[in-house]
Amino acid sequence: MKNKFIFLFSCFLSVMLLFSCKDNNKQSNGKTPEITAQSDTDFRPAFHFTPEENWMNDPNGMFFLNGTYHLFFQHYPEGNTWGPMHWGHATSKDMISWEEQPIALEPDEQGYIFSGSAVVDTENTSGFGNGETAPVIAMFTYHDPKGEEEGQDDFQTQAIAYSLDEGKTFTKYKGNPVIENPGIRDFRDPKITRDEVHNQWVMVLSADDQTMFYTSQNLKDWELASEFGRRIGAHGGVWECPDFIQMKVEGTEEKKWVLIQSLNPGGFNGGSGTQYFVGDFDGKTFTLDESMSDLGEDHHYWLDFGKDNYAGVTWANIPQEDGRHLFMGWMSNWQYANEVPTETWRSAMTIARELKLTKTGETYQMISTPVAELQEYTVEEFTKDNISVEGETQIATSEEIDISKSVISFEIENLKDQEYHFSLTSEGDDILKFGYDHNTEEFYIDQSQSGLTDFNENFGNKISTAPRLSKASNLKVKAVIDNMSIELFFDNGETVMTEIFFPEQRLKNFSAEGEKFQINDLRIQVIKS
Ligand code: FRU
Repeated sequence: MKNKFIFLFSCFLSVMLLFSCKDNNKQSNGKTPEITAQSDTDFRPAFHFTPEENWMNDPNGMFFLNGTYHLFFQHYPEGNTWGPMHWGHATSKDMISWEEQPIALEPDEQGYIFSGSAVVDTENTSGFGNGETAPVIAMFTYHDPKGEEEGQDDFQTQAIAYSLDEGKTFTKYKGNPVIENPGIRDFRDPKITRDEVHNQWVMVLSADDQTMFYTSQNLKDWELASEFGRRIGAHGGVWECPDFIQMKVEGTEEKKWVLIQSLNPGGFNGGSGTQYFVGDFDGKTFTLDESMSDLGEDHHYWLDFGKDNYAGVTWANIPQEDGRHLFMGWMSNWQYANEVPTETWRSAMTIARELKLTKTGETYQMISTPVAELQEYTVEEFTKDNISVEGETQIATSEEIDISKSVISFEIENLKDQEYHFSLTSEGDDILKFGYDHNTEEFYIDQSQSGLTDFNENFGNKISTAPRLSKASNLKVKAVIDNMSIELFFDNGETVMTEIFFPEQRLKNFSAEGEKFQINDLRIQVIKS
């Protein structure tokens, strides 16, 4: 009797499971995709941040306090496509393992909570402090959907909220908005920086296709100091999500200010992308460095040349003893973000990265690498040296190591004028290709056969390319792979490409192809979930 009951009960459970799985596989247009050998759970990255449920875009309000990294994010908790924006919240001790927290900011009668930043006001310049803990001040854009609908131009304003419990809960300031809209439709994404040199707060804001610089003593009263960007750099779309940081040039005592500026569309490979500008700041005006003075639409100052690293900014309040500039971006592109084939959750963040500024001759360059903390997550390692590649050559297979969640690093010495191709393949037909052509000094990623691609015409329809910026005779490659994403750090992070893809089966093999070359110091690290 008992066995029969268990049998019947498990039948019932299986049927329920079948129904719920089917539901999970439904596309937003109501159709069930034809093939999903992989499901939502299989696509979900193991060591990149994803929201537990539903929609996410830009990282917001990142700050560090008392040993904890905080990440807020554009979030629509009730749906898997973009909707009324909230600030989701997650915390981490190392920027790799994240724990999702209750929602930090919800829309109200003034509008949706668009992107912005947060700082720990250690000196209580804002006066919001209670004398016990340093207040955390978040600054964000109110987006009033009614105003937008009615065709007004001033529906985006800037507001603040403060937290007296280390970012767990926020109280919106009664005097909001703190910056009114002067009549600019795209007027958003305030990012605050502490400017120690001029003893003030500086805030950069995207306005149409320019950056506005504001200054403040108390985080409540803001004064417009200057504007930047007219006819400088790429202007294929609206500028969004700026960041402004002072950086030391590697190996020198020289300091420069860097403006990180996302734009959409107009990215290097189409759609969303993030460019940067190096210069000086006198407390009011940002002046582009002379080496960049004739910067037009086509330039090489992109934080990432791939299609899927957008709206990224840096963490505030990183202690001086640490001194790193830590960055994270949204791993998607507005061309197709709403349609990628995951259902219960949508979008992941990039791996946290360390940014450095280098100078070669007169040229400044931003380099990025995965944060060192990622190393701690290695659970298994595979190494091989002096691998001869001729024609198509198998480098590592699933019998040897699991490449679907891994960091693959290797080196090619004495580059020759030839092509170097690499492939990640599954047991099925999925192939993600990347490589380098030393004749044209160009890298590429080809997603065209990488799995599910037909959910949007802009996905996988074009091979993405990136210039090689290094002149070194050896090529170093580091690929961070996590089920549905590849982040390629070439030449120690001088050229970076990040892209997402949706293989129908788990990635299993790593192979190389070319006329004749050798792979050295191959190291594959499996990263734990
Ligand atoms: C960038 C962006 C921001 C805006 C937010 C809205 O991806 O468009 O400019 O604040 O997303 O979710």
